[in-house]
Amino acid sequence: MKILITGGAGYIGSTIASALEDHGHTPIILDSLATGRVEFTRGRIFYHADIADHAVLETVFSEHPDISATIHCAALIIVPESVEHPYEYYRENVAKSLELFKSLNALGCQKVVFSSSASVYDVVPGFMVTESAPLKPGSPYARTKYMMEMILQDVSRAYGMRGIALRYFNPIGADPKMRSGIHAKAPSHVLGKLVDTALGKNPVFEITGTEWPTRDGTGIRDYIHVWDLAEAHVQAVEQFDQAFARSDDPHGSYLVINLGTGRGVTVREMVTAFEKVYGKEINKREMPPRPGDVAGAYANADTALRLIGWKAQLSLEQGISDALKWGQVRQEILGFNK
Ligand SMILES: NC(=O)c1ccc[n+]([C@@H]2O[C@H](COP(=O)([O-])OP(=O)(O)OC[C@H]3O[C@@H](n4cnc5c(N)ncnc54)[C@H](O)[C@@H]3O)[C@@H](O)[C@H]2O)c1
Repeated sequence: MKILITGGAGYIGSTIASALEDHGHTPIILDSLATGRVEFTRGRIFYHADIADHAVLETVFSEHPDISATIHCAALIIVPESVEHPYEYYRENVAKSLELFKSLNALGCQKVVFSSSASVYDVVPGFMVTESAPLKPGSPYARTKYMMEMILQDVSRAYGMRGIALRYFNPIGADPKMRSGIHAKAPSHVLGKLVDTALGKNPVFEITGTEWPTRDGTGIRDYIHVWDLAEAHVQAVEQFDQAFARSDDPHGSYLVINLGTGRGVTVREMVTAFEKVYGKEINKREMPPRPGDVAGAYANADTALRLIGWKAQLSLEQGISDALKWGQVRQEILGFNK
């Protein structure tokens, strides 16, 4: 199958491209390189363009009329930046996705898999969320994801398209074959900061928030290996029609699926696992929560198994180990310091 991946030069999109190739499919990348890396597109069919550029999409579909589905990963993704620059976030993520969906529909690509996020959920007692758990996106970034879900749902129903929103929990690690990984110079998530502390780029790892109502007081997340996440997309496009057939609404046009491991891991547990894999203790200190922090959530991952036959396979330790390996090789691949 040929699959269009918007944002295919990014961390997750490029890993999905590798997984598709490993399963014998052909990814076609559309990316503006706003944040993504040209190195991740090498050897792949690549259109350097914006998702809202209808003329380029016309070219893509005239050159590849056999594209079966689009995986829409392109977005701006940094939460604090979205608080500072909401206009850019709503324009890039929401307004441009609307244009993209319109183009895809006009060009006859009516199957869309969308990168959504667990950040749309409210915090619930016990922290485990099913797809029908209450939503409360807590930042402009999370609200863009929420709005894009609603738009995809509405355009799917109105225009004869079908959409699957995949709500990612917390992706970690890198492609186990080291073709791609995190490219941000200063990662803002827990594992990226741990790797930076281990590599000496960050003097101390801060455990922010130690009084949450979790088993050890620190925030809880569902860390999912990015390779598992990528494999879920392969399943989603291969099983696209079956997913609807197996759902509660076989004639429906929109599905939501959590992509997580189904296991909650606290920040302290993450630090302990990291130190075990790394083989050394790292410098750490406890701090109060940052503005906007929440206790967290982990996935009920039953729907993914039922609808697309997918279940996370790789361990937290493998994610940590691949992140550390990537931290060592990414200088060579991306040409900047470790
Ligand atoms: N990384 C996470 O922790 C996480 C968690 C949940 C959901 N997601 C979602 O997964 C998707 C991919 O995230 P990522 O971590 O790979 O981020 P990333 O920044 O590595 O990738 C995003 C890609 O989109 C491209 N892009 C942005 N705006 C564009 C536009 N207007 N036109 C064309 N290309 C554009 C960027 O150049 C980049 O290559 C995003 O939609 C994000 O919201 C990520």
